[in-house]
Amino acid sequence: MFIVYIRKKSVPMKSLIVNPPEKGVEIKDVEMVKPTNQVLKIRILESGICGTDREIVNGLMATAKPPVNENYMVLGHEAVGQALEDGVLFHMGDLVMPVNRRGCNKCLNCLTGRPDFCETGEFVEAGISGLHGFMREFLYEKEENLILVPKGIEDIAILGQPLSDLEKSLSEILTVQRRMIWTCQDGTYRCRKALVIGSGTIGILTSMLLRSNGFQVDVVNRRDATDKEFRIFEGIGANYINVGDDLEVLKAGNLLFDLIFDASGSDADLLSKSIRLTKNNGIIGLFGFPSKGIASITHQDLQKVVFKSLIVVGLINGQKPHFERAMQRLAEWKSVWPDVVKELITGTIPVSDSNSVISALQRKKEGEIKVKIIWA
Ligand code: BGC
Ligand code: ZN
Ligand code: ZN
Repeated sequence: MFIVYIRKKSVPMKSLIVNPPEKGVEIKDVEMVKPTNQVLKIRILESGICGTDREIVNGLMATAKPPVNENYMVLGHEAVGQALEDGVLFHMGDLVMPVNRRGCNKCLNCLTGRPDFCETGEFVEAGISGLHGFMREFLYEKEENLILVPKGIEDIAILGQPLSDLEKSLSEILTVQRRMIWTCQDGTYRCRKALVIGSGTIGILTSMLLRSNGFQVDVVNRRDATDKEFRIFEGIGANYINVGDDLEVLKAGNLLFDLIFDASGSDADLLSKSIRLTKNNGIIGLFGFPSKGIASITHQDLQKVVFKSLIVVGLINGQKPHFERAMQRLAEWKSVWPDVVKELITGTIPVSDSNSVISALQRKKEGEIKVKIIWA
């Protein structure tokens, strides 16, 4: 009997490397083994930087971990790439976006394409936990994990990943609200008032998505809007309010909401305040991870939850259907809000400028919405 050792082909590629839970990020050449199963070789063109990347780089994300048996992880979960070969579903030259969360292969939700509702919690997330991410020159990827980037939105396609999380969130909100009739008499959502807490990247994309779906939108932050924010919110017909340190000033103005979407990921106490600002049958969606505070919910608050039939729902992670919807949505926005869309990409950094790449991964610059690292 012969034993044949097949040497796995490995290729060196420039990558952004982290080692959670340790702080730090480096640009390094790493050897990557080409998987033997059916994969497509992809050249990464752009990577988006998100708050989660910064939490990992600053050693603040408790759930971040390298793949099993590895002592480093390639960072990055927002990427646009180009197929370098023909596959079954994709052709050489196609622009593609990889889906970031992958299922546990055990639970029904994962086995039917919805690892955003994984039952076991054993899913992995590229560049976040248990799977190498996309901040690297090349990627070998199964076609089933790829989304086609339609022509015409190349400049903003990188927003497809964060927007997929929000498409999923909105579809979850609408599904939950099907517990009753939540559409207005004309069948739209135009009579529904939404409050978006936070005017960062997620707050902006959420406000756009809600306006696209007919909702009335108030966006709040603790400070005045910047000129850019003013242009964006005016452009989409949302109303910006500076609430200072107290969200409850809205109540004094008798502003109550059908939907409150926490896009700030800041203080846990916003939950109790939100409960007080929600109308009957309202829904409070929590997106992002609060980084401080205690939600001090009094018995009167809980009575409100019951009396008003409120729902508080955690919102996370979009999957393939939501990525696809996000791509169509970006095309829609480019045509209905061209001037607003132009405001969204606030910086591009070539990967060769390593100092700027590393500092962009360490902290967010003032006025930043989405910054891309350019690979090729
Ligand atoms: C990603 C989500 C992911 C979440 C938690 C976010 O930055 O956009 O898709 O599920 O982090 O890790
Ligand atoms: Zn992200
Ligand atoms: Zn699962």
